[in-house]
Amino acid sequence: RPRVLSGIQPTAGSFHLGNYLGAVRQWVALQDTHDAFYCVVDLHAITVPQDPAELRANTRLAAAQLLAAGLDPERCTLFIQSHVPEHAQLGWVMNCLTGFGEASRMTQFKDKSAKQGADRTTVGLFTYPVLQVADILLYQADQVPVGEDQRQHIELTRDLAERFNGRYGQTFTLPAPYIPKETAKIYDLQDPSVKMSKSASTPKGLVNLLDEPKATAKKVKSAVTDTDTVIRFDPVGKPGVSNLLTIMSVLTGSTVAALEKEYEGKMYGALKTDLAEVMVDFVTPFKDRTQEYLDDPETLDSILAKGAEKARAVAAETLAQTYARVGFLPAK
Ligand code: TYM
Repeated sequence: RPRVLSGIQPTAGSFHLGNYLGAVRQWVALQDTHDAFYCVVDLHAITVPQDPAELRANTRLAAAQLLAAGLDPERCTLFIQSHVPEHAQLGWVMNCLTGFGEASRMTQFKDKSAKQGADRTTVGLFTYPVLQVADILLYQADQVPVGEDQRQHIELTRDLAERFNGRYGQTFTLPAPYIPKETAKIYDLQDPSVKMSKSASTPKGLVNLLDEPKATAKKVKSAVTDTDTVIRFDPVGKPGVSNLLTIMSVLTGSTVAALEKEYEGKMYGALKTDLAEVMVDFVTPFKDRTQEYLDDPETLDSILAKGAEKARAVAAETLAQTYARVGFLPAK
């Protein structure tokens, strides 16, 4: 079985629809066909300031949401990044292989640091992608299921893996991005020219899965479309409507073409009303299941402990090999 690895930040509390459709949904599906490793990346979270109690709570919440979304600890390995110290250890080795200019070209870093200002940007944020490289290479992942915004970080992973292999001998698998085209980028409901993200300019454009279902329905119904009236998939000419069609298609399993047919001659309001209902039917049980996991912290913690143990077995082997190749004197 090919191996997949992916990670998600715990920082926002609730996952948003972009996280789910762009990544987590694929994680669930890949459990059946791949040897799957998924982690909540708390080390990445502290690249920006975090309140300790909140970080702890949000890390549990992230794990609960992943289980609620359908990750099954019997079929995949779910763990918390900081429970496996090898991530930070391999991260250091990878830092020493990364060019300063190379890291400076990472667009997510450029965007985030520009927003924060230089004096508030940490060195951790700068090397964030390199830690991600370590996450992936530790597990010898063949594929990495993510949204489009992570593609550049997977390319960096391949570059560093190749560089290490070239310098020290074959050690790491070169991973490929796994980014289904339809859901590669889910857009903001109020501004369909930008991706849905927790740093949206208005909360109305961001669908948090743990919001009150009523609030979610309202956001869907007030989504920005266009002044035309035809319900047609055309991401360039009709980005708002196309985004709604994508979301509807994935959540219902109907093809976009079938939806275009179904809504022929109908108004945008009809699509929005139906999608609002589909969304409510999706988020309501999701929210309930998440709460059930939160209400039983012992079960949750034991799932995470088992996950960390399984992850460590793989990570430790890769790290030992890496250390030996680099020339670190083994501890006796
Ligand atoms: P994060 O936590 O920002 O997002 C988690 C996943 O959600 C995807 N995503 C989207 N997909 C489609 N449309 C959107 N609007 C949208 N918004 C977010 C992201 O692409 C991501 O797949 N650096 C990563 C976390 C990470 C990681 C890893 C991923 C750390 N180590 C190793 C893969 C492998 C991040 O910040 O994701």
